[in-house]
Amino acid sequence: MRKGLLLAGGTGSRLFPMTQVVSKQLLPVYDKPMIYYPLVTLMLAGIRDVQLISTSRDIPLFEALLGDGKQWGMQISYAVQYQPLGLADALRVGAPFIKGEPCALVLGDNLFYGQSLEEQLTEASQCRGACVFAYHVANPSAYGVIGFGPNGQIEGIEEKPAEPKSKYAMPGLYFFDHRAVEFAAEVSPSARGELEIVDVVNRYLALGELEVCKLGRGVAWLDTGTPDALAEATQYVAALEKRQGQKVNCPEEAAWQQGWIGDEELKQLASQIGGSYGAYLLGLLERT
Ligand code: TTP
Repeated sequence: MRKGLLLAGGTGSRLFPMTQVVSKQLLPVYDKPMIYYPLVTLMLAGIRDVQLISTSRDIPLFEALLGDGKQWGMQISYAVQYQPLGLADALRVGAPFIKGEPCALVLGDNLFYGQSLEEQLTEASQCRGACVFAYHVANPSAYGVIGFGPNGQIEGIEEKPAEPKSKYAMPGLYFFDHRAVEFAAEVSPSARGELEIVDVVNRYLALGELEVCKLGRGVAWLDTGTPDALAEATQYVAALEKRQGQKVNCPEEAAWQQGWIGDEELKQLASQIGGSYGAYLLGLLERT
């Protein structure tokens, strides 16, 4: 069974002083903690066994928030990344948990939302080798950029290039087969001193076993790493939720929709949470 790695370490320095004493991924994005959003992305991909990776300072808070995952019909475990050595390092930290299974890795500050997403996640989950996504952005230089050849074939992926070869960025969601841990162990630090996930992805590319799935205009991909990006994500979620009366990436709802919890469990969660969030969960039971 594919396992999920939820990356919630790092220093969050671009959000100082907000993140001086607490993890970026525990900050709110409108009405829920940031970590809920990527967690639901894993849930929509059908992943029930998740390990959250963070700092020794923040793990007790994540544990207090998410527990062992049973309340959502999941299993959530925790592992400490002592130094923010990069995203590929998380595969090393998570190796004992992954134990030779395929995995999906998602960054704790990435938000995905959109109609066709669930289908695309299901497809990605069935890939051979590895699958990453491509998303058209205005500022590709801030990301890993995917270069395409004349026939749409992937030519390479470069991390934060000064002269990007396309407008397609690689979002922070990666599906790997069982070899990812082995490939991550062979990565050496980049010029900025990090173990880059791009190097793991490029190993699959070199083997001809990388699939790239374009996320269309109907899907939103936001990251929340700067004060502006965080404010924009909050405004986006607020606007959608107020207009539609439906929550964006609500884990209780996702667990219930997946059939991992039943009506009784949902009611119980609703009464524990209370307030307008609890009322929303109760309202789900009345919808047809
Ligand atoms: P980044 O935004 O690249 O790094 P950061 O969170 O430390 O922030 P800043 O650049 O402002 O200092 O990280 C992307 C995501 O990956 C984020 O959710 C944190 C996570 N991460 C880890 O879990 N471990 C790491 O070693 C790194 C570098 C990031």
